[in-house]
Amino acid sequence: MANLEERILIVDDEGAITRLLRQKLSRKGYGCEEANSAEQALARLRINPAELVILDVKMPGKSGIELLPEIKSSWPDTMVIMATAVAETSVAIECMKRGAEDYICKPFDLNEVALSVERTLGARRLQLEIKENHRHLEEKVGQQTEETRKLFLGAIEALVLSLEAKDKYTGGHSRRTTEIALAIGSELGLSTDDMEDLRWGSLLHDVGKIAVDQLIQNKPGTLTRQEYEHIMIHANVGAGIVRPVVNERVVEMIEHHHDRFDGSGLRQVVAGNDIPLVARILAVADTFDAMTSDRPYRSAMSLEEALGEINRGTGTQFDPVVASAFLKTKAPKNRGSTKP
Ligand SMILES: [Fe+2]
Repeated sequence: MANLEERILIVDDEGAITRLLRQKLSRKGYGCEEANSAEQALARLRINPAELVILDVKMPGKSGIELLPEIKSSWPDTMVIMATAVAETSVAIECMKRGAEDYICKPFDLNEVALSVERTLGARRLQLEIKENHRHLEEKVGQQTEETRKLFLGAIEALVLSLEAKDKYTGGHSRRTTEIALAIGSELGLSTDDMEDLRWGSLLHDVGKIAVDQLIQNKPGTLTRQEYEHIMIHANVGAGIVRPVVNERVVEMIEHHHDRFDGSGLRQVVAGNDIPLVARILAVADTFDAMTSDRPYRSAMSLEEALGEINRGTGTQFDPVVASAFLKTKAPKNRGSTKP
């Protein structure tokens, strides 16, 4: 059955042929247009793309064989039926290998032409339907993946908050660290995507503490080397927990958040600007918040003491660019006026 919205462009250098085909196919209900050269065909398609082109293989000037790839690349949903003399069917078959859907032989059997058109347009409808279903399916899978990702991220965030809530020393640490990190990020002019990574990396940076022995973490005295090494596993453990739902940059940010700028940290493999920028930002934000909060082994430092530590650590523990951006933010002032 002809679909009235389907248009056919008939391309042949002989006007008698295009007229004959137009008459037959118009009677079948198709909207037809004629072109007597490749150039005319392209001009018509640019104004009014057709669902189907019947294309003469041999034409003076640019031939149908040359025109076929141009049509297929500019209008990929347009089907092409090659029209050829019986003696040259091998050329038409070659055209089918290059993207044409069918071929018809001259002199035409008009009923066969109509059948080929019907079959080709039917195949086109089916192809478009499959394509649309595929697109719809991909969209649905994408939405579901995103929903699952958000759910999982929310669950990890809840885990971080509950870890902090049961520890009187770290309550609110991730939230405050995130605020400071974002203030540094915006001072440094980070892009929206970078800021989003910075936010997630900061919120989740200590999730790996779930694997840390609470007795060691809350030990009032100085840690032994072994105890310190045990606490530091949280960076790698945390990176492993979030890996399935965040991008690689957030994973690296968590993995490297205790890296020192000069490369002297525990089992550190990168240094300086090779440490991801978001991790260098988190290092300053995390340390500042930790210094200005009570810890089992010491009381909170005053703002002046903490700023003194940041200054002392600039270039060794901290990236100087990040440390200087931090000092320009309102974070130190905020900490001076509000209790953690
Ligand atoms: Fe940490």
